[in-house]
This record gives sequence, structure tokens and C-alpha cells, in this order.
Amino acid sequence: MNYIEFGKNNVQLSTIILGMMRISSMSVREVSQLIDSALDVGINAFDLADCYADGLCEKIVGEVLTSRPDLRDRMWIQSKCGIRREDGIKYFDFSKEHITEAIDSILMRLKTDHIDSLLLHRPDTLMEPEEIDEAIDAAVKAGKVIDFGVSNMNPMMIDLLKDNVKEKISINQIQMSAAFTPAIDAGLHFNMSTEAGTMRDGSILEYCRLHNIVIQTWSVLQYGYFKGVFIGNSKYPELNKVLTRIAKEQNVSPSAVAIAWVLRYPHKMQAVIGTTKADRVREMALATDVKLSRKEWYEIYQSAGNTLP
Ligand SMILES: NC(=O)c1ccc[n+]([C@@H]2O[C@H](COP(=O)([O-])OP(=O)(O)OC[C@H]3O[C@@H](n4cnc5c(N)ncnc54)[C@H](OP(=O)(O)O)[C@@H]3O)[C@@H](O)[C@H]2O)c1
Repeated sequence: MNYIEFGKNNVQLSTIILGMMRISSMSVREVSQLIDSALDVGINAFDLADCYADGLCEKIVGEVLTSRPDLRDRMWIQSKCGIRREDGIKYFDFSKEHITEAIDSILMRLKTDHIDSLLLHRPDTLMEPEEIDEAIDAAVKAGKVIDFGVSNMNPMMIDLLKDNVKEKISINQIQMSAAFTPAIDAGLHFNMSTEAGTMRDGSILEYCRLHNIVIQTWSVLQYGYFKGVFIGNSKYPELNKVLTRIAKEQNVSPSAVAIAWVLRYPHKMQAVIGTTKADRVREMALATDVKLSRKEWYEIYQSAGNTLP
């Protein structure tokens, strides 16, 4: 496993994070075993959100922590807030009241006195940065939240927050995989009037590098927006051919190569994996052993159907 130094307490965080969005149908015992499988291979970072199964995912992890309190110090736990559903209506809410209430609810479900990181989940167009500052500042001062970050935000949104929020924005969690590359395409197709040249994210990768914001990537094995896994998928024959060849050469699985592709971006990167299977956690953890040359990185990019100018 590889680690990055992170946050106010200079913790060593694994570059692979176990995402726990899909654990809602698992028993406490199964989730406990899944956490063990991650810790065993050196994964010490875990990602949740208050909206995952309406809080059920956090609740299950809370029950694991209650039955095994020793685990808490070995786990760096991150959660997110700001996505709401009420009366069948979905909306985003970064109001002071909601963030404050959400943090307390997260802590209650997780049965812990603090979370190591809190992310604002999806941009709320109606956000008032001063309110966010008040909510986050109070939570940090009370020791409920250690580090702070955002998710799915473009540079201008982060600048808007940075101007008003005292707490450093340490993380941006965004979608990126070998088969989901809008954040990469526009830079490669600079100034082109093609679809790939369309700037959708305001150069978020370069922005995060400039501002020392860790990039966490979600859905590292999916194509489209939750369309499915591209590993072994007949929609991606070339990509699977290349991943399989490199996987054989380096004695790992194609999934490990796909995760290594994301981690190859030259910055403080973390890949949030979403498997619920211990075997796959072990197999994917080997991604940090994979060495990808520039040529291989570009070969994977193009084998997913992307082009270069
Ligand atoms: N910030 C955000 O807006 C945001 C959005 C979405 C997700 N996230 C975070 O990112 C994490 C990961 O997202 P994700 O779950 O979409 O990531 P993912 O790792 O790309 O996908 C996980 C899914 O792929 C399946 N899978 C893995 N390997 C497979 C294979 N070889 N063949 C077939 N199926 C395979 C897994 O099934 P098995 O369980 O059977 O292995 C699981 O259902 C989430 O848990 C969450 O923490 C954040």
C-alpha cells in the first residue's frame, strides 16, 4: 500500500479508500469482516455519506465500532453531507442549520465523537459561504470534525468557499475512471471545437494541484454515471484487452491496473473503491504495486475510446 501525508495531524492515509456506499444490505458481521480485509492490506481510510441508504450505511459501521471499539483508532473515517431527500424531493442544502444538524446525526449513527474528514457532498447553488464557515468552524472547534473538504466542485466554487471559510479545503472528491474522463479530455483537447474539447470542470485537476487539494476519485471502475463496471464488460473490448495484458505482465488483476491508472496522475491522489467483497479488496489493493509508464497510461486512455489530437 502507498500512503500520503494528510491534514492537520499529518496522518499517513492509504491511497486506496474503502467506499461504503453499497454496504446497506450487509450484516454488521459482514461489514466488520470487510473492514478487516481492508485494514489487513493497509487500507486505513473509509468513506461514507449521510445519504447512503438514508444513513443506514453509517449506522452499520457504527454498530461495528460499538462491538469493536478498538477499530476506531485504526480507521480514518470520512463522511459527507448536503444531499437531502424530503417528501420525495431531492435537493442540496449547505445551510448552517443543515450542516450542523447533519454532523451531529453522522456522529450519532457512527457512534463516535468525531469524524476525521467531512466533505460537502454536491454543490448547493444557493450556498452562502459565510454560513458554511460558521457551521464548519464550530464543528472543528468542538472537535467533531478534524479536516474539511468538498466533493464534485469546480475551481470557482472552491474559490468562493476559500474566500469565506477559515478551514482549509483539503480534499475534492470527484468522479474519474479510465472510462470516465471529462476532467482529462478537455485539457488534452485544448482549444479544439470537438466534443472532447468541451471544458466541463474548469481544469479541476490542475486547480487541485496548484492549491494542494487531495483529489479523491469515486467510481473508479464504472463508466458513465453509475452505468456499470467496465471490467469484463463487452462494451469495452479494447480497454479490457489492454488492462488484461498489463495485469498479466505485472501479476495483478485488470481492476488493479484500472485503479493504478487513476493513481498515476501526478498529485496526491486517492481512489475510492466501492466493492463489498473481501477478495476484491485484496486484489484491488495491489493497484499500488503497479507501475504504469507514460505510454501505457495513454494506451489505456485511448483503449477506452478516447482520442488524442
Ligand atoms: N462523492 C460522490 O459524489 C460519490 C458518488 C458515488 C460514490 N462515491 C464513493 O465512492 C465509492 C465507490 O463508488 P462505486 O461503488 O461506484 O465504485 P466502484 O468501485 O467503481 O464500483 C463498485 C461496484 O462495482 C462492483 N465490482 C467491482 N469489481 C467488479 C468486477 N470485477 N466485476 C463486476 N462487478 C465489480 C462492485 O461489486 P461487489 O461489491 O460485488 O464487488 C460494486 O457494486 C462509494 O462507496 C462512495 O464511498 C462518492
